[in-house]
This record gives sequence, structure tokens and C-alpha cells, in this order.
Amino acid sequence: MKIEIKKGKPAEYPAEAIVLTRFEDSEAPAGATRFLGATIGALIDDVVKNGDFQGKLYQTAVLYTRDPIPARRVILAGLGPKKDLDMEKLRGAYAGAARQARALGLKEITLFLDVHDTGQTIRQMTEAALEGAILGIYQFTPYKTLEREKIKIIERITVVDDKDDALKEIRAAAKTAEVVAHAVYFARDLVSTPGNDMTPSDMAQAARRIAERKRVSVKVLDVAQMKKLGMHALLGVARGSDEPAKFIILEYRGAKRGESPIVLVGKGLTFDSGGISIKPSENMEEMKSDMAGGAAVMGAIMAAADLQLPLNVVGLVPATENLPGGNALKPGDILKSFSGQTIEVVNTDAEGRLILADALTYAQRFQPAAVIDLATLTGACKIALGDHVIGMLGNDGSLKEKIRTAGERTGERVWELPLWEDYHELIKSDVADFKNTGGRAGGVITAAAFLSKFVGACPWVHLDIAGPAWLAKDKPYAPKGATGIGVRLLVQCLRDWKRDAAPA
Ligand code: BES
Ligand code: MN
Ligand code: ZN
Repeated sequence: MKIEIKKGKPAEYPAEAIVLTRFEDSEAPAGATRFLGATIGALIDDVVKNGDFQGKLYQTAVLYTRDPIPARRVILAGLGPKKDLDMEKLRGAYAGAARQARALGLKEITLFLDVHDTGQTIRQMTEAALEGAILGIYQFTPYKTLEREKIKIIERITVVDDKDDALKEIRAAAKTAEVVAHAVYFARDLVSTPGNDMTPSDMAQAARRIAERKRVSVKVLDVAQMKKLGMHALLGVARGSDEPAKFIILEYRGAKRGESPIVLVGKGLTFDSGGISIKPSENMEEMKSDMAGGAAVMGAIMAAADLQLPLNVVGLVPATENLPGGNALKPGDILKSFSGQTIEVVNTDAEGRLILADALTYAQRFQPAAVIDLATLTGACKIALGDHVIGMLGNDGSLKEKIRTAGERTGERVWELPLWEDYHELIKSDVADFKNTGGRAGGVITAAAFLSKFVGACPWVHLDIAGPAWLAKDKPYAPKGATGIGVRLLVQCLRDWKRDAAPA
């Protein structure tokens, strides 16, 4: 898809469809009159007066313009009450308009952003609108072979404005939105791709493509190298599968060599059957998404490089399948982790924390300024928080605050759960240093308590994305299925890293 910025007045621009937003409580004559002239203004007023469109949030309406302006259609997108507007709603509103255009079979849409009275900058609004529109029309179609000609695709999104100063901001915002949305698409594609085509080796191959960028390098450890290092927690999980495990190390160097990196760690379970503690078969196919944390980390590195952020960032993705093969881990097995600490495997389905344990230990090599891990770690998190929020636990207040702020800005919000000492009791083992589950109660917390044993003293935050990584139903700008959650959160966090609280 192409993003184009054009200088011009919306009333003179020959678009297939021009998107105009409207608040629920805006008064007639609408702002549209100012941009599209009195005739179109009256047309819109008519639609409103007839009750067909009130400007309710995510509501859309299509108008056919006839003569007064060259644009053939106006797509109205409702923003809800003016006082409630935020960038999250704007993303959703533009996603709705873009989906509407796609449903009509249009190949392009044109946006004109009316900042008047919104209290927002043109830059923020453009970024949110484009991001929302692009993310909203994501579709995963490579495996559809029948009637491919019926797949509707928006090929171009154009933003028009006639003011030079605004155009400068719009260009900058469009560039950022395009990079970020591309990274989210990348993550969604990886997660949507079935386990037979997204093995650990396939993930490693995707990482190698990311490393074709300037300042990005990649290293992939194979099983022999992991054995040599002593990553037996990760290798333990991999034992039940014939697919060789991979440990992916992506490094982006945007700052000087000596500067401590931010290390991102993503769970890369390319398929989680549960292993010997096998999962029920209902919905098990969704467990191809158990590498969503790894995909988000890879997407974030990709965007950091494309935005040339002035930071050093490392991405670590331990990648394996969790299958019940003849050589698989058994409940009761004890593993010696890369850290040297021993783990009693009580439940082979609590495999994410095992592979993350070794990755978090590996992270310490970089003397990181901070470590952030993302993982579809616990069903308990999905049960506790649903699919609207990421569970956050960690040991560093200022890192948590950074992530919280990035969450509010991107709509990829986080909610903190406590990591108190009391919970650490639950993962003590009678025979080893720790056991890999603490029982059903407080499952999100005991999982994080387990991870904390492998982070040393460095600032660390764990993000449990089990809820929002995969959707059973569409959201305003995330079609059902893979969301790519975490990419925008991480990228925003990195963009703001060296800034004070000033919005990016
Ligand atoms: N990948 C799952 C967690 C998960 C479940 C993510 C549902 C998304 C949707 C993880 O490996 C897992 O199986 N966790 C177990 C842990 C338990 C055995 C302590 C769980 O949540 O049941
Ligand atoms: Mn599992
Ligand atoms: Zn898992």
C-alpha cells in the first residue's frame, strides 16, 4: 500500500472518496462546509437531519457528491462527542472509514484532517489517522487460493492539505505511521502464519531479513551452540519436537558503541501443544500465536532501525515448538538452566517461562539499561484481564512508568499486577531451586515471579500479552486474529526513551 501526500484543497481534489470526520455534537452547518463548500455542507446536514448519521463514534456514512466537487464520494466518519476525543478513537474512526471504502471496492481513499478545535496537532492527528486506517484494513490472505480476484484491497491512501506548514508535519507523521504500521503488519503476518510454515527456522529467516537494514545485525544460535552454553531450560522444551530450536539475537546500533542497550526479549513458541501436559484440542490451533512476543520484538527492532532511533536495542527471541514427542520433557524432570539454577518441571505446558529464563540470563551479557520481555505467557492473564490490556509486572518503577505512558499514547495499554515476595513462596520446589508452576491461583504473578529469578538486578519489566495478542472478534482497528500487540508499545517507548515526558 502506498501513502501519498498531496498539496491541494479538498474541495478541488479528484478523489474516489474523501474521508471527513464529524463529532456527534457538532452544529450545523458542519465544518465540512468550510472545506467542501455549501452544497456538500447542506448534503451532510441532510443526512444528519434525516437521522441516518449522527457522528457517533465509529459510525460511517457514504455520500455521493455529484457536481460541486471533483471527489466522487464523501465518507463520513463519526468521532463521538468532541470532549471525549483521543487518538485511540481517531485511529478507530479512520479504520472504520477505510474498511467502508474497501467494502465498496475502492482502491484508494483520500484523507483531509480537520484539526480545528480538537486541541491536537496536525502531526499527532495524521499519525493516528494513518496508523488506524492502515491497521484497520489488514488482511491475511496468502493461503487463500480460490476467487482471489474477489479480495478487495485499498492500494493507496492520500492525505491532502493546502498549507505548506501543515504539509511538512503531515509528511513527517506519514513516514512514522508507515514505518510503524509496516512493523505491525510484519508481526501480524508472522503470528497468522501457521506453525508448519513458521517454525523456529522460519522465524530465524525472518530475522535475517530484518538484519538487511543498516546498523542491524543478526546472530542465530543453533542447538549445538545452545548446548555448549548450557541453555538446558530452553533445550528441555525443544526436546519433544523434531524442529530444531533457534535462539535469535538481533542487534540494532543507533547510538555509540559503549552505550548500554535496551534488551527486548520475546517468547517464540512457534506452536504450543502443551507437551506431555497436553492442552485440550478445542482452540489449540490458536497456539500458533504463542510466538507473538517474539514477533513483536522483531517488529520493534525493524521499526527502530527504520526510524533510525538514537538508541542501542537488542532483540532476543528464543524459538521452539512445544510438542509431546518420545524424547519430550516429562513432569518431574529437573533442568539446569543457563543461569545455573535448577528447575523442576511440574507442568510441561508452563514452557514459556523455561525458554524465557535462559533468554533473560543471556540478556545480562549486554549489561542492559533495561530488559523488557513480552510473552503470551499465561491463560490466567487472559482470564484476569481479558483482551483489552497487557499484564505488567516488574522490578523498576521508572521503567514501568515509561511503559505505562507509551501504553496510553498507543492504546496498547498495560495494567500492573503486584510482584510481592509472598508469591515467590509458591514456586519453591522440594527437590530443585524452583518449580515451573505455582498452581492456578495468581498464575500471572507466579509466572512473573519465576522470571524474576533470571533477571539479576537490572531494571526489568515483564509484559504478559496472552489476552490481546489474538482476538476472537474484530476491534476498531484490529481485525480478529493476530493483533501485532506490543510493536507500537515498544516503538513508542523507544521513541520517548531519551525525551522527557514530551509527546513524540
Ligand atoms: N501459551 C500458553 C498461555 C496462553 C494460553 C496464551 C491461552 C494465550 C492463550 C502458556 O504456555 C501456557 O500454557 N500456560 C499455562 C501455564 C500453567 C500450566 C501454569 C496456562 O496458562 O494454562
Ligand atoms: Mn504452554
Ligand atoms: Zn505457551
